[in-house]
Amino acid sequence: MTREPASGAEAQLEVPFSGRVEAGTRKAKRGGAKTGRRSEPGNDRPAARKRRRRKGPAKRGQHADVAESMASKQREISVSEFFAKNRHLLGFDNPAKALLTTVKEAVDNALDACEEAGILPEVLVRVEQLAEDRFRMIVEDNGPGIVHAQVPKIFGKLLYGSKFHTLKQSRGQQGIGISAAGMYGLLTTGKPVEIISRAGPRRAANHFHVVINTKKNLPQTLVDAEVEWEKPHGTQVAITLQGTYKKGRHSIDGYLKQVVVANPHATIIYEPPNGDKAGERIVYERTTDQAPREPREIRPHPHGVELGVFLKMLQGTSARTVRSFLQEEFSRVGNKVVQNLLQETESAGLRLTPRTPPRRISAEDAEVLHSALGRIKIMAPSTDCLSPIGEDLLVKALEKRVTADFYTAATRPPAVYRGNPFQIEVGLAYGGGMPGDTLIELYRYANRVPLQYQRGACAMTKATVELPWRNYKISQSRGALPAAPMVLAINIASVWVPFTSESKEAVAHYPEILHEIRLALQECGRRLAVHISRRRREADEEKKHSYIQKYIPHIGIALQEILGLSDRQRERTVDTLTDVLERSRKM
Ligand SMILES: Nc1ncnc2c1ncn2[C@@H]1O[C@H](COP(=O)(O)OP(=O)(O)O)[C@@H](O)[C@H]1O
Ligand SMILES: [Mg+2]
Repeated sequence: MTREPASGAEAQLEVPFSGRVEAGTRKAKRGGAKTGRRSEPGNDRPAARKRRRRKGPAKRGQHADVAESMASKQREISVSEFFAKNRHLLGFDNPAKALLTTVKEAVDNALDACEEAGILPEVLVRVEQLAEDRFRMIVEDNGPGIVHAQVPKIFGKLLYGSKFHTLKQSRGQQGIGISAAGMYGLLTTGKPVEIISRAGPRRAANHFHVVINTKKNLPQTLVDAEVEWEKPHGTQVAITLQGTYKKGRHSIDGYLKQVVVANPHATIIYEPPNGDKAGERIVYERTTDQAPREPREIRPHPHGVELGVFLKMLQGTSARTVRSFLQEEFSRVGNKVVQNLLQETESAGLRLTPRTPPRRISAEDAEVLHSALGRIKIMAPSTDCLSPIGEDLLVKALEKRVTADFYTAATRPPAVYRGNPFQIEVGLAYGGGMPGDTLIELYRYANRVPLQYQRGACAMTKATVELPWRNYKISQSRGALPAAPMVLAINIASVWVPFTSESKEAVAHYPEILHEIRLALQECGRRLAVHISRRRREADEEKKHSYIQKYIPHIGIALQEILGLSDRQRERTVDTLTDVLERSRKM
């Protein structure tokens, strides 16, 4: 993803830039003063050229000086140093967002861990306000716990996790979530991450204080002790950080409300900071006792592997031959595919046999091989590795959490983008007490994780905005979300969600993904239109019925007066008229 190039860019930016400025000032001291143009490298080129003609060797020495001074500043940048500087990339760009991101990372991990262990999650989220801009957030789960030796690395080292190397649907994928939150807490308050974890009733619970050494991206353990803990298994994480507690769209409250819609199997207990209502406790009981299907891990599909990853796989493989490398490390590669591939590389001018050892393949040849892989036909990846919420549960969850009078959901069959299987589902709640003239509420989810920021950059927003909602009897201004009393929930389930950045806030605009979202929206839209038409017809009927009830008695009175009818005759006339009108209206 963008991680490597980004850190490379940082290295290039920081180091040569300072070198250049020095060179410029030095030149300015000598010759630039005459022209009055200083320090911009491009400006003093003619003077430099003249000087080179006059004193060539001296200039060479100068270059060496600059190279030396550059060398003294060139050093490795640890990933944590990079992200400490560029914390916005991970979602810590302002205090309100930082607090939400921290809670989100901890809740993601809690739910992931429970699911992996087949445990129905019960997660406690507590946010304490310590000062105006200082908070302590605690997230406690009933998951499998973390073994003693792993705790420091998980919480004090970036890019350390169990999910990056496996292709499996999960909330976390980069191993950069909770440790980055801990690092942000440390940088803003100086406080360590506090962890209690217990990996089973027969093991002791351990209490840790961990800080990250940002320079080295290594953990430092300040406290490591056994403690009494009432939970038989689980993990509690506490992070103290600078933050702001907000209500509204980007609030923790709003985020948790969305979590329970997409995770109907989870119970979430939320204790908000002591403000207006001290000691408040919001309990979201689970909607179902049915745990989601444990997603299966898969091997990468050849069409989804980028060149860099392919090279790494080639170098790191234990396979002895190209054939076994391709067949063991990738999915959907059989003898036929290998045969076709080698024919394709041969026509591109590279002769390989199935027995060529992978280590003998040079980088250039690997590039030819990789691009040939992209050109040949390979069966689409298997899609049983996905675990969507499911139509029934999505409707049930919406019914429980959103007051409306119409609910529907559509789960699309699995599809594939760039070799990665994915599945889209859409849930919709309409009507009820929701305001009708404002924009709809769009809940975006990736592997059941609510996405709170960068709505405009997300494929889900794009597909929703571009759908002609008027066809489904919903009003919409050009280029905007529809305006209706509606909550729309869209989830993408995938082994690798293509986020637009590390902070995992928006899904990239892959045509296949946009297409699938569109189809799911259309399906829900059609059902909604049927509902709205029926409702309108019923309302119309109701109105006509009320006219008959309201006006016919008056006609009866008028007829009584004109024709001199008795009260009984009048009543009979009114009954007959009502009957005739009701019948003729229905015809
Ligand atoms: N509450 C938890 N219970 C069990 N394991 C956890 C918990 N939190 C984190 N982990 C482990 O720590 C790893 C690193 O977490 P994190 O930094 O959030 O990265 P990611 O979730 O992207 O892998 C996870 O992959 C998981 O194996
Ligand atoms: Mg995580």
